[in-house]
Amino acid sequence: MNDHARQSAPASGSAGRSGIAPSVGPGQGIGLGVDVGGSGVKGALVDLATGELASDRHRIDTPQPATPEAVAGTIAEIVEGFGWDGPVGVALPSVVKDGVTLTAANIDARWIGLDARSVLGAALGGRAVTLLNDADAAGLAEQQLGAGRDARGLVMMLTFGTGIGSALLYNGVLVPNTELGHLEVGGAEAEHRAAASVRERSGMSWEEWSVEVTAVLRTFEALFAPDLFIVGGGVSKKAHKWLPLVEVATPIVPAELRNTAGIVGAALAARQDSVL
Ligand code: BGC
Repeated sequence: MNDHARQSAPASGSAGRSGIAPSVGPGQGIGLGVDVGGSGVKGALVDLATGELASDRHRIDTPQPATPEAVAGTIAEIVEGFGWDGPVGVALPSVVKDGVTLTAANIDARWIGLDARSVLGAALGGRAVTLLNDADAAGLAEQQLGAGRDARGLVMMLTFGTGIGSALLYNGVLVPNTELGHLEVGGAEAEHRAAASVRERSGMSWEEWSVEVTAVLRTFEALFAPDLFIVGGGVSKKAHKWLPLVEVATPIVPAELRNTAGIVGAALAARQDSVL
């Protein structure tokens, strides 16, 4: 993955080439988002009006084991590196309710049932922290500033990676924590059939994989009747190889924000919380 993908010019007077600024806070429509994944923790300043990154993307390997304390330390390193003193949005592969992480996919089991907002808030010197599921963050970003920006009705964003993440938005409002990757499709969990990692591991061709993706998406269609599917994750970069092979009735488009959607969505969620 290219850490420096989608760089844009630094916000004037803030981050320089290294992405490190002496002191940056909210205002001028800038936010900070962090995306915690199984292999990397990535953060950047975000232009909240456009979704463009307003700094370089700073990536640090996810500590192993990815315990809450270790990950909190990594997030603090990223946030402090930007000299940021405003609210921080954090996207995680977890079901998140009111700052508590209820599940943990590809991160340590000690996140389960944890008051993660307090743990991260303490590690970040009392800064306000907004936590949300990683696919929900990507869905928010795509709906507001990416492939779904003109879409109304029911938008379903799916991220194909190690697992399958889902975000459901109705007229722009997120219904959080849908976890549709765990829905059973033909006797197996959707993400065990059609995650991008399954294709890589099993050596499936794009044709074979698209049959699995079709089965999963048809099940979601039958249950939710969405108006638009947005497909994200690393494989969305190669959408031309497989998207035309997916046979669904619902309009389906690749994500536009690519690997920054989690960061952008986390920053948007933090802004939303701070104005509530
Ligand atoms: C997890 C979700 C997560 C998705 C993508 C799934 O296995 O259950 O919470 O959004 O992977 O990371």
